[in-house]
Amino acid sequence: MKTALTTATAIALASATCLAADIKLPEPNRTGGKPLNEALAARQTNRDFSTAPLTDQELSDLLWAANGFNRPEVKKRTAPTAVNRQEVDLYVCRAEGAYLWDGEANVLKQVTDKDLRGFTGRMGSPENFALVAPVALVYVVDYARQGMQERPQDAFKYASVDCGFIGQNVYLHCASAGLHTVFLGMINPKELSAALGLPATRVPLFGQTVGHAK
Ligand SMILES: Cc1cc2nc3c(=O)[nH]c(=O)nc-3n(C[C@H](O)[C@H](O)[C@H](O)COP(=O)(O)O)c2cc1C
Repeated sequence: MKTALTTATAIALASATCLAADIKLPEPNRTGGKPLNEALAARQTNRDFSTAPLTDQELSDLLWAANGFNRPEVKKRTAPTAVNRQEVDLYVCRAEGAYLWDGEANVLKQVTDKDLRGFTGRMGSPENFALVAPVALVYVVDYARQGMQERPQDAFKYASVDCGFIGQNVYLHCASAGLHTVFLGMINPKELSAALGLPATRVPLFGQTVGHAK
């Protein structure tokens, strides 16, 4: 037992050493943007992207709008969740790797240095827009944190709608910031789970491509 623990610790330390590429994002802009009705009027799906990366500021603003803490004193966020379980984690997949967003610290924690964007969008197509756009968000539901496993239909229902609220926040932020985006049911949860090292209780449910216009 002692040996196994020691080995596991060593692996964790080794991978932490290899992937010490966490990114501390700048403070997000919590004011400004288009008036709500103008953002609603502009909200739409766009699949034509340029390869231009998002700046750290653009990413920080996007993630805060998506699911950031808008009431940090009570640890509540821009998107609601059923029973306030806050069970959705955002992963940010870019060409240089995939990151788990820690919304409290506003840090992107690198999970892998692999490009996982191809497990979203038009998978297997050389014209997959997800490989052009710089960012593929992946919405991972933690069913253990949600705590509704004894009622699987409710668990799936609430997890899906909770992802949908985040997706709409992203749509409205993109409409306001002049970015393009497309919400995605088309993701490969099996490949994403393996590449992100997720346990069976944490499931990628949706994705969302974000980038600049072509
Ligand atoms: C739950 C859901 C899943 C979707 N999945 C995909 C998808 O896998 N691929 C895609 O290209 N668009 C996807 N979309 C985007 C829809 O095709 C798009 O919202 C729809 O055509 C309406 O266009 P609009 O968003 O501009 O109003 C999805 C949208 C929703 C709400």
